[in-house]
Amino acid sequence: MNISVVGLGPVGLCSAVAFATQGHRVIGFDIDASRRDQVSRGEPPFYEKGIREALRKVLRAKRFSVVDTMDAAIEPAAVVFLCVGTPSREDGWRDGKRRTVVVKSTVLPGTTDNVVRPILEASGRPFRLGVNPEFLREGRALEDALRPDRVVLGADGPETARVLKSLYRSSKCPVLATDLKTAEAVKYATNSFLATKVAFADELANLCDALGVSYDEVHKGLGLDSRINPRFLVPGVGFGGSCFPKDVRALVSAGRRHGVEPRLLEAVLAQNEVQYLRAIAFLEEELGDLNGKRIAILGLAFKGDTDDIRETRAFPIARSLLSKGALVVGYDPLAGPAFSKVVPEVKVVDSVKEALAGADGTILQGDWPAFSRLTAKDFMTTMATPVVVDGRRILDPKKMRGVRFHRIG
Ligand code: UGA
Repeated sequence: MNISVVGLGPVGLCSAVAFATQGHRVIGFDIDASRRDQVSRGEPPFYEKGIREALRKVLRAKRFSVVDTMDAAIEPAAVVFLCVGTPSREDGWRDGKRRTVVVKSTVLPGTTDNVVRPILEASGRPFRLGVNPEFLREGRALEDALRPDRVVLGADGPETARVLKSLYRSSKCPVLATDLKTAEAVKYATNSFLATKVAFADELANLCDALGVSYDEVHKGLGLDSRINPRFLVPGVGFGGSCFPKDVRALVSAGRRHGVEPRLLEAVLAQNEVQYLRAIAFLEEELGDLNGKRIAILGLAFKGDTDDIRETRAFPIARSLLSKGALVVGYDPLAGPAFSKVVPEVKVVDSVKEALAGADGTILQGDWPAFSRLTAKDFMTTMATPVVVDGRRILDPKKMRGVRFHRIG
């Protein structure tokens, strides 16, 4: 099928490359000319595992191309995916062909019908409307786009549903066909539930600490219940990123606007806001007053395998340490420069070794694979005092002999 993808950010580009890899002919367009240029040269404008190779492959095979105008993107397409922050009016097509316009952006239930439909109608062109939420995790977006565990297709009628289903014919996973509003809601429901799981794990780990119980064992027991799976129950310094905080907040506000007080989701946000304080408390327990102490933060992006710093927990951690008079040093394999622009008081260095050198304490905030390979010796030989707070549960406490090691839970 001929598909066009409007918006070549992580969601748009990974979806475009996945569709092309699966054999569809895909045309991409982005309003940003330098982004178009980069993508057409095979240079992804963001970091995402595997995307560079996969992009180059589909460009070489001529199954994916980037065009300079919206017209050129839409003209040959049967299905147009909107992967932009806010869908806007486009210049579009002039023939009378009825195309299927699919919203992939995360939008509150009702937006596709109430906002996107009038824009398309104003253009006077015939169209069908669909919603196909994405469930891609940053860092694994391509893998998730190629092998989803489910596909949700919202359609404005049976013909749209048929077109969308045929697009995903080769997918082996369950496909759920719904109306537009339901598909939009599934995305919010999913992210809100996952955020709730993380906040629950964080709170449970705090309780385990207070009660003198090992979270590991409790987690095992919990995960063995077939109604609860063990994933997304890793406690730490809280969730960040461009999705969980934003989507939960949006659902809370939507609830309030409609006369529902979403108490549980409000509690999830409130719990997440303060969870990082546990890491600071461990440092204070070990080091006393943090004034003048050198503290390293390993991992500045909101998680490992991404350069995205949006709502990273490294922000409140760094700001809190700075307000206590600590000298804060940070390291991240990718996100250092972006982080320093926001919190310039943090000294961003180029390696783990430099970050740890002479440090009185360190907080692991990012779950980069390289950090999980750190040994007790790495901390003991470089730090002034080997106080380590594992904020992402990536190190084995049994292997940390000699380190004053803490983790939540
Ligand atoms: C999330 C969802 O997982 C995707 O399914 C969704 O498509 C995406 O949002 C989106 O809406 O675009 P992402 O934000 O990339 O993906 O990151 P996650 O891997 O879900 O992690 C979110 C945050 O929760 C991170 O800060 C992570 O460290 C934290 N987390 C996650 C935990 O603290 N514990 C866990 O067990 C899992």
